[in-house]
Amino acid sequence: MTYKRPADRYTKQAKAEGFAARSVYKLEEIDRRTKLLRPGLRVLDLGAAPGSWTQYVAPKVGPKGKVVAIDLDPLRVACGPNVQALEMDALGDLSVLDPYGPFDLVLSDMAPHTTGTPFADAARSEELVDRVLDVCERLLVPGGNVVAKLFRGEGFEALRARMRGIFSDVRLIKPEASRRESVELFLVGLGRKPPAPAEPAK
Ligand SMILES: C[S@@+](CC[C@H](N)C(=O)[O-])C[C@H]1O[C@@H](n2cnc3c(N)ncnc32)[C@H](O)[C@@H]1O
Repeated sequence: MTYKRPADRYTKQAKAEGFAARSVYKLEEIDRRTKLLRPGLRVLDLGAAPGSWTQYVAPKVGPKGKVVAIDLDPLRVACGPNVQALEMDALGDLSVLDPYGPFDLVLSDMAPHTTGTPFADAARSEELVDRVLDVCERLLVPGGNVVAKLFRGEGFEALRARMRGIFSDVRLIKPEASRRESVELFLVGLGRKPPAPAEPAK
């Protein structure tokens, strides 16, 4: 028998407001606190299904901006002309994304299928955040920002250190809509530093 969580106020609010998931209120709070979104931005949304973050972002960036929404699964919402949805594995070949970049903002709400073993779940979540940072190094413009969901585990400090190498300001946010018992938190990197110049050939 599968356990069905009772609908909390965010689940009810998401349903009433037509959002695909309650996760939208996590992004809304992060956006309120860090002023991430504005018209014209080019946004990569990783782990986008069923689609509530994409629903939130698309009108904020407007017709001059765009959202490229990636997931293993299809989005379950209708999207406007400024959204392009791709079914793909973010742990696969990143060069597939090159034609869609560069981006001003990278979002990741990616989460592994949980196994019930916190150590293993955190390790797989860390692998996903590491991959988000690879994407940032490849496709995020200097000055650009990132939000990445992480299940906090042993690799947390190493990931935060890597982020500090890439971004001028690194913050941790646990939004109110994030369930208190969950180990999830959001790493926010603001202001991508200019990439280090390539070493001259010897
Ligand atoms: C919590 S859900 C995202 C909810 C979404 N932000 C929304 O607001 O509707 C996590 C998503 O991460 C996706 N995901 C996990 N691993 C992935 C991977 N390697 N590549 C692409 N998507 C992945 C899952 O398929 C799942 O849809």
